[in-house]
Amino acid sequence: MNMHHRKKITSTQIKARDEQPGPKHFEREVPWWKNSIVYQVYPRSFLDTNGDGTGDLKGITAKADYLYDLGVKTLWISPFFTSPMADFGYDISNFVDVDPIFGSLADFDELLKTMHSKDIKVVLDIVPNHSSDEHEWFQRSLRREEPYADYYVWADPKGFNDSGNPIPPNNWLSKFRGSAWEWREERGQFYYHQYHRKQPDLNFRNHRVQEEIKNVFKFWLDRGADGFRVDGLKHIFEVEDLNLDEPVDEEAGVEDNLHYNYLKHPFTMNQPETFELVRDWRKIMDTYQDKLLMAQAYSNDIQDVMKYYGNDTDPLADFPFNFCLVEKVQNRSDVTGTRLKKIIDEWFDNLPKGKWPNWVLGSHDYSRVASRLGADLVDALNMLTLLLPGTPVTYYGEEIGMQDADISWEDTKDPRARNFGPDHYREQSRDPRRAPMQWDATANAGFSRGPSTWLPVNDNYKTLNVKAQSEARVSHLKVYMTLARLRQERSFAKGKLAFPVVTDEVLAFIRYLEDEPKYLVVLNLSENDVVVDLHHHANLKLPPDASVITRSVSDKSEENSPGSKVNLSALMLVRGEGLVLQLPFAEEIE
Ligand code: GLC
Repeated sequence: MNMHHRKKITSTQIKARDEQPGPKHFEREVPWWKNSIVYQVYPRSFLDTNGDGTGDLKGITAKADYLYDLGVKTLWISPFFTSPMADFGYDISNFVDVDPIFGSLADFDELLKTMHSKDIKVVLDIVPNHSSDEHEWFQRSLRREEPYADYYVWADPKGFNDSGNPIPPNNWLSKFRGSAWEWREERGQFYYHQYHRKQPDLNFRNHRVQEEIKNVFKFWLDRGADGFRVDGLKHIFEVEDLNLDEPVDEEAGVEDNLHYNYLKHPFTMNQPETFELVRDWRKIMDTYQDKLLMAQAYSNDIQDVMKYYGNDTDPLADFPFNFCLVEKVQNRSDVTGTRLKKIIDEWFDNLPKGKWPNWVLGSHDYSRVASRLGADLVDALNMLTLLLPGTPVTYYGEEIGMQDADISWEDTKDPRARNFGPDHYREQSRDPRRAPMQWDATANAGFSRGPSTWLPVNDNYKTLNVKAQSEARVSHLKVYMTLARLRQERSFAKGKLAFPVVTDEVLAFIRYLEDEPKYLVVLNLSENDVVVDLHHHANLKLPPDASVITRSVSDKSEENSPGSKVNLSALMLVRGEGLVLQLPFAEEIE
């Protein structure tokens, strides 16, 4: 895939690894999710229809037209199941019902019907690793009632300290800070919680637990769900020997010995048994037609992530989320063409044969693109993820370039942030990116008619909102919609990929397919305006000019306005700009 010399474009890995070219309308036959954008909605924050300050299912249903117009074909909704909300829905006390704060099962059915009528698939968030401590299973397990006694990971204390307090069986840490073990006097034992102490880990070494969760899959599939995002998958199993301490991660340089990153995690992550479980889930899903299985199983070792794809003969998840553009691109100075290209190559180079890539820029767990990397990069990065081969995942609000909200300690809700206290909560809080969707300039950004909202609305909502951006001649939203439409074209849906120019400042890529329009995407990732000569300095033959399809909102120049012809020998881009160009039709690329 590296093309260092000036030569004709040859097919890239995508072609080599993709299915053989099929009948003329082949793209209709590939699974729906391959050509689709996955749009993640955090239900508490999308739209509140009953004025209680928290979003609900009816709110999502009410926005079906918005999603349709946006060009989104897959809606992934974060958990809306019955929950005491210690981790805002990721602590579930009934996996097969809707929490009243979000509505009812009937509201879910209505949501599904409405979305399906618009050809939008609905994917649910399944959280198998743990339940709420208020789940009936846990309550019964606590009392050692059969068959629930071993539904969770219980362990005897290693001993007792001088004051007579029980000592946890090992040093394992919770991702939310502190020991992952919580003592329960009732049972005289500790239980294990990878996350919050109100999220006890289910014991997947117990086959009944496996069956229970399979039934959860079936329940929602029978109700018509189109697939699942599986939460915290890599943590489902721990080693059997609970006496094993995890080693200190010397390289991480973390001083706080209660911080999760203080340790390495060989005994609580990616255990081999996990894959057998995913295989079983895959089998269940394949007894239904055409369902999508996305895995949240990212870790720094790309080989470990890729295992969740399985392979041709042993398919597991359709894809594990690719968080490389988030984890490896943490601030503005990480955004260089060379680095992004390396990250993109790494994914393609490790992708198992026949598997499909995906690109994630954010989620309810990560800082928003505009805040993490820079507001000027919003359009360029949407161009990258929407126009590369693969399925893009967009977190709600990224299409309008929403920014992290500034949330005080008093208003902070995220349990992880609260565990770090008033001096350090900001570094840990996930609340800023979970603030309400900014629909318009009315009170509460049009998110809620109520007196207050569960998290404060970002102050910038008066100017940064959906309504303003739909009315404006140019806006992030309009760029996004253009990209969503473009990516349906065969050149993007099925086309090949090549990178004519890769420098620290500029990343350029081409999408093309025989007898179809050819597109050139040029991103200026630097913090300066640049002039690039793509005609003479590309590592493959590019024509002298091209026409502009769309560009970042920050570029107001006459020269680059959509429809204009630009000179590829001296292409001007403002800082952070992305430009999508169409190459002259007759131009031979291959
Ligand atoms: C996943 C979710 C996160 C949640 C955790 C516990 O990491 O993305 O938001 O807190 O699981 O369920």
